[in-house]
Amino acid sequence: MAVNDFIQSNKDRFLNELIDLLKIPSVSADPKFKDDVFKAADFVKESMIKAGADVAEICQTAGYPIVYGEKIVDPSLPTVLVYGHYDVQPADPYELWDSPPFEPVIKKTKIHPEGAIFARGSADDKGQFYMHVKAFEAMMASGELPCNVKFMIEGEEEVGSDNLDKFVIENKEKLKSDVILISDTHMISMKDPSITVGLRGMAYMEVEVTGPNRDLHSGTYGGAVANPINVLCKMIASLKDENEHITIPGFYDKVQELTAEQRGRLNEAPFDLKEYEEKLDVDTVFGEKGYTTIERVGIRPTLDVNGIWGGYIGEGAKTVLPSKAYAKISMRLVPDQDWHEIAQLFEDHFKSIAPAGVKVKVKSHHGGSPAVVSDTSVGYKAAEAAMEETFGKKPIPTREGGSIPIVALFQKELGSDPILYGFGLDTDALHSPNEHYGVQNYFMGIETIAAFFRHFKALSDQ
Ligand code: BES
Ligand code: MN
Ligand code: MN
Repeated sequence: MAVNDFIQSNKDRFLNELIDLLKIPSVSADPKFKDDVFKAADFVKESMIKAGADVAEICQTAGYPIVYGEKIVDPSLPTVLVYGHYDVQPADPYELWDSPPFEPVIKKTKIHPEGAIFARGSADDKGQFYMHVKAFEAMMASGELPCNVKFMIEGEEEVGSDNLDKFVIENKEKLKSDVILISDTHMISMKDPSITVGLRGMAYMEVEVTGPNRDLHSGTYGGAVANPINVLCKMIASLKDENEHITIPGFYDKVQELTAEQRGRLNEAPFDLKEYEEKLDVDTVFGEKGYTTIERVGIRPTLDVNGIWGGYIGEGAKTVLPSKAYAKISMRLVPDQDWHEIAQLFEDHFKSIAPAGVKVKVKSHHGGSPAVVSDTSVGYKAAEAAMEETFGKKPIPTREGGSIPIVALFQKELGSDPILYGFGLDTDALHSPNEHYGVQNYFMGIETIAAFFRHFKALSDQ
């Protein structure tokens, strides 16, 4: 096929262009990188034009821009909308990286004998959305673009996509499509391809516990005044019971329980518990009683402290009874939990368990809805057929624990089926030091996306 020939003969260039994109530190969370985030948006726009888009524009928002591009071959053909994000997570702590996060290098690993690109954003999500730009280029160059394409690549996914809702709602006509392709998730492994059909939602909270009006001498006052760090730890500990069940009243009210049959099917996915534990260097997994690891991550909500601070954390020992303690707490949600409701339940409960002697403040950061997508839609069937063609094996539908809050909004506002077509692996170290993306994953992804277009056109015609 001409399209695959084109991919094969342009491999080095496809790789080098991605490396150039990865060199731009487009960290959306840190204002220090503001210029770089805008620079990455320009890079994305230019790449769409070079690939053959008729339209490629920087759409300003109240935050970082959304890059929109399109190629309409013929309005009567099916239209594929591609979503991705060009922003990345902060690379901190830098000292834990084996090579600098924004100086990409290709290194071989046990799982990636052909090499993997090590850089922040390589898998999440630059390496993954860029596959779509390259697949589009290859289809254009070989005269084999069977569908219309629209791209919407945003720059605020890692900070909650605050301005994307408005853009989607105001541009429904422009974004009209028959299917939405998103490569921002994992598959089980190279030999067990999978398609994600569920994502968890999220409610992200920050709490502040105040004791005395200033830091105190922990000898003079210790034992006589509530220590906000001690109190905070106790309060947090009480949020789960001995079965790791969350104790916030009403928290589980809207959680969808799966049937035994659905759970059985979910657990059929290849999963090696021993290997999972070994890769993480833990002697055993941990979690809610009565559920498997696949279920704990895929279909059960959870609550985790993401950071906790207060008092003295410098060198040596300082005796201090701190005035304040803080924690950032996230809750991963499943259908049909509503994140606004859960944030409110958390706030009410957290305040209600505060003992006398401290004051508690609770703030809600961003949140997002969980999503379940169809595994019987035309889009899914096409995605399945394309993966079967390139990987030689029918992909398994899986539910993942991460969140892409915008997926639920797409379902509600745009009405076309999102396909979570990720080609990364859970070992890619997303958000961690030494994030990487397999070179083979990158090229297999490009080929599979091109195959998707062919299958989607064919199935849409039926
Ligand atoms: N690409 C991830 C989400 C993801 C990762 C889904 C792996 C499934 C498997 C995305 O960029 C991300 O990090 N999302 C955030 C949520 C966001 C609101 C900050 C997350 O899941 O923490
Ligand atoms: Mn992502
Ligand atoms: Mn991410």
